[in-house]
Amino acid sequence: MAMWGGRFQEASLEEFRAFNDSLCFDYQLAQQDIAASRAWAIGLAAAGIITADEATALDGALAELALEVEANPELPLQTQEEDIHSWVEAKLGEKIGATAKKLHTGRSRNDLVATDLRLWTRLNAQSVQQALLGAIGALLKFAESHQGLVMPGFTHLQRAQPVLVSHWALAYIEMFRRDLSRLEDALKRLDVCPLGSGALAGTGVAIDRHALATRLGFAQAAANSLDAVSDRDYVVELSAAASLCLTHLSRLSEDVIFFCSGEAGFFKLGDAISSGSSLMPQKKNPDVFELLRGKTGRVLGHLVAILHVLKGLPLAYNKDMQEDKQGFFDLMATWQQCLLVLATVLPHLSVNADRCRKAAELGFSNATDLADYLVGKGIAFRDAHELSGELVLKASAQQIPLEALTLAELQQVCPLIAEDVFAALTIEAGLAKRSAFGGTCPTQVLAAVSATRQWFDDRN
Ligand code: ARG
Repeated sequence: MAMWGGRFQEASLEEFRAFNDSLCFDYQLAQQDIAASRAWAIGLAAAGIITADEATALDGALAELALEVEANPELPLQTQEEDIHSWVEAKLGEKIGATAKKLHTGRSRNDLVATDLRLWTRLNAQSVQQALLGAIGALLKFAESHQGLVMPGFTHLQRAQPVLVSHWALAYIEMFRRDLSRLEDALKRLDVCPLGSGALAGTGVAIDRHALATRLGFAQAAANSLDAVSDRDYVVELSAAASLCLTHLSRLSEDVIFFCSGEAGFFKLGDAISSGSSLMPQKKNPDVFELLRGKTGRVLGHLVAILHVLKGLPLAYNKDMQEDKQGFFDLMATWQQCLLVLATVLPHLSVNADRCRKAAELGFSNATDLADYLVGKGIAFRDAHELSGELVLKASAQQIPLEALTLAELQQVCPLIAEDVFAALTIEAGLAKRSAFGGTCPTQVLAAVSATRQWFDDRN
């Protein structure tokens, strides 16, 4: 039975119901709807609206229902109710009869759904938080187990300067740590209870909303009823946090896909996380990372969708808001799954140290070091840059690296160059020079790894 039959004389069209009803997806809020209802029943009794016996009956039946849903989360789908709120009420009616009809006193589905979704979001965001820490932990292990290995660093996808493999992994850890702080920041603002705001103007019953908020584990009660029923900022904030986090994951995936290509060959995927081609027997494809990159598109789409749902809505509740759920449920599940998958596959990623080093030696990656060397000889950087560039031209005409030029050839371009230039042009010298905080110098990277480990262990 619909919750709003009285003023209607005709039955709903089947097609209208199919379009209007939300049970087929908001059944996932069953536990939250039950929890909010239990807190509400207690509040009603405390306010003297229902008797203590009635509250006990409601609470007992709701607790029983919670167990039934726990045993079978899809239980609501066996019915034809409009949404999860009507389903819970109908089930209560089956269990305790007329008392069930008192539960909705002073509340609306508008404040109820706003509360349910916050409770659901808080729970699921905590799972994402754990998954994010898991992904960071896996990247940290990767950084720790590949200490000292050097690889080419790129700008414009052209070899630029050598970097340590661990430095690369730590870069993504930085991004994921920011994602974690964004998620935690959003959780702070989510920590507000809309229940007791009624349909829009506030509840008509003298309920203690602060006690109600505390009962549901919220830090505070929402301060304005109009805002409370129509605020979905937390959906947007978490969708934005997810979008940025997935964007980071996608960039990492893009790196790995390239690093695993035949052309680069820096990384190798284990068989257990690769797939083959049905036609080409030699293929071993990085599908996992391509899917991580691909799923990012889906998550970004959900962010754009919710922003569009909300942008034209007048206060307060509008049915458009029912569209906040499906995309968001999918977004939160996808976010968590992608992070769990990253943590699972990273240990199956190996580094071809030889190939990385050889590639790091190519492409004139030490041209900046040559310029820096000339600066050390008293030449202004802009002039040193020019001279180093001339030597790159000279070496590339002979198809040899800078360090293969003879001292005489080097001195033709700059007489200040001496025998010590060859030591300055080694990879080790180049890495060691990047010794300011945040650079790829091995001692800095070692310190960064251990600082990150410290932070990580403190958090866990
Ligand atoms: N299914 C609705 C939603 O998710 C619940 C709120 C319905 N409120 C209303 N006034 N029709 O938004």
